[in-house]
Amino acid sequence: MTETAAEQTETFAPPEQFAAAANIKADEYERAEADYLGFWAEQSRELVDWHEDFGEVLDWTNPPFAKWFVGGKLNVAYNCLDRHVLAGNGDRVAINFEGEPGDSRTYTYAELLAEVSKAANTLTDLGVKTGDRVAIYLPMIPEAVISMLACARLGAAHSVVFGGFSSDALRSRIIDAEARVVITADGSYRRAKPTSLKPAVDEALSQGDTPVEHVLVVKRSGQEVDWVDGRDQWWEDSVGQASDTHECEFFDAENPLFILYTSGTTGKPKGILHTSGGYLTQVLYSMKAVFDIKPETDVFWCTADVGWVTGHSYVTYGPLAAGTSQIVYEGTPDTPHQGRWWEIIEKYKATILYAAPTAIRTFMKWGEEIPAEYDLSSLRLLGSVGEPINPEAWRWYHRVVGGERCPIVDTWWQTETGAHMIAPMPGVLSTKPGSSQRPIPGISVDVVDDSGENPAGPEGGLLVIRRPWPAMLRGIWKDPERFKETYWSRFEDTYFAGDGARRDEDGDIWFLGRVDDVMNVSGHRLSTAEIESSLVAHSKVAEAAVVGAADDTSGQAVVAFVIVSNGAEDSPETAEELRQHVGKDIGPIAKPKTVHIVTDLPKTRSGKIMRRLLKDVAENREVGNTTTLADASVMDQIEKSVAGA
Ligand code: WTA
Repeated sequence: MTETAAEQTETFAPPEQFAAAANIKADEYERAEADYLGFWAEQSRELVDWHEDFGEVLDWTNPPFAKWFVGGKLNVAYNCLDRHVLAGNGDRVAINFEGEPGDSRTYTYAELLAEVSKAANTLTDLGVKTGDRVAIYLPMIPEAVISMLACARLGAAHSVVFGGFSSDALRSRIIDAEARVVITADGSYRRAKPTSLKPAVDEALSQGDTPVEHVLVVKRSGQEVDWVDGRDQWWEDSVGQASDTHECEFFDAENPLFILYTSGTTGKPKGILHTSGGYLTQVLYSMKAVFDIKPETDVFWCTADVGWVTGHSYVTYGPLAAGTSQIVYEGTPDTPHQGRWWEIIEKYKATILYAAPTAIRTFMKWGEEIPAEYDLSSLRLLGSVGEPINPEAWRWYHRVVGGERCPIVDTWWQTETGAHMIAPMPGVLSTKPGSSQRPIPGISVDVVDDSGENPAGPEGGLLVIRRPWPAMLRGIWKDPERFKETYWSRFEDTYFAGDGARRDEDGDIWFLGRVDDVMNVSGHRLSTAEIESSLVAHSKVAEAAVVGAADDTSGQAVVAFVIVSNGAEDSPETAEELRQHVGKDIGPIAKPKTVHIVTDLPKTRSGKIMRRLLKDVAENREVGNTTTLADASVMDQIEKSVAGA
């Protein structure tokens, strides 16, 4: 749909009542900019319970390796649990859990503290110590949050692996992180059917080449599972029996909190490392500033899985450290019916909803009469994350879900940034459909041209982050060179985010998608290189090129072009076999939507595949400039074979 200029510049002022009660007022931007280190020190002391105060705010003597809140000591789990109980809020609901089959459980802060203490005692019994790593491979059940906090309580880093990833993906992450313990479940539920999880763990560990000594298994789906005596234990047996008190220690501000693997431009996922004090400070500040959290009255719902960074920062750490009540939902939006989300909002009187644009676009397709059947009047603020939100989806979200009374915060950030970086302050700025607008107070970003020196023109340029920020990644696990190379080598002392962006006349930022070979499918990051290497590992594939093609619902879809090896058939069955292979190898989310079998791939004279041209084909556009191709006729052949498919 083409938009008129008037529609593009339409803005929505914060509702009067919202603005009057907002946590953040207009002067915050200037105040933070006047002394950004002083600002972060002040926020940190206000929002975090430090066991020992820090000295220097930022040590940036060895860039790009930052240390924030030097010398400070804290326990992140204490900040999420004990301090709320000690303040007399132990009876406040921490988690309203809604399972996919319709079962539900509630944990107050006092109950959650008891569960986390039990899990921490169990992990200690299993030999987990400060500085160790624990892999977590669980569905979206409270035990996932409990496990993460138990690790944090012990000062051991967790590495959560999304339950939709394959055993191979799990295995490589376990080995890279050197995890000693894996926490998993027998299975989970997906679209009303139990699906198994434990077999993937068994397979990942079957070659005996991982450092894993113990596997803790939550009973969730009741499926039969294989058992390795001496290695496997039921969560119910060990955590169930453990003491529910645990005295915590306090760790250095830079103690590792977690490693989370994410896709990059090369085949191997990167282990993004986050530490404690800075991460918690910025996550808490974003809860206060971007989500305007009022812990006594809000019911927060972030719909992301804890397998992604959004679930780390805005299911586990943000809402709990802020002391608010939240909703955790195991299932999909259409089980048992397409009104499931709205039913949950009505049931728990959710006040803040945080979701991905791909979900909004799906709901638009299902029709606005579905949410109209439910009472959504408890909502007061809406958030968007993971990919650019198109203005049409923004307006639908605002009108149909938010009843035109809820500001929308479009939050731009990454696994690497740890917390929100660009988002409107909802009580201050008039929001603009489709634009994330401005960096949050205390953060400095720019949109620059290729040289990195000049501001980009109206056509846009590259997004960079100028100054270090508290929740920044501290590195790539065990690979400092790759950390420097990936983020800090393109421009000097400046973080290169990998996103294209432009500023409009008001100075507001609009995102244009990735500028590298990272795709964004339904708000999930996937790497073209990772899927290509999975494809070429199949015996029927000689060569493969993968592109992310624009898709109405998922933002982008994975489209693969493959040359089959000698003897393999060019048939729909082969294409399907290759799709399934990627699904099994990496995980169902990586499965290409389409596999085109072609006889050649477009290459430059130096042999580089020109994905830009393949993207033109995948998006049904006229193919762009082919003059640098070694053989320009290749594109005609590809277009013909795709049209004939
Ligand atoms: C994209 C998810 C536009 C972006 C939190 C970024 C966005 C990548 C937005 C990080 C947004 C995230 N508008 N694009 N509001 N939020 N992105 O690491 O390309 O899974 O680089 O973190 O998602 O994905 P990641």
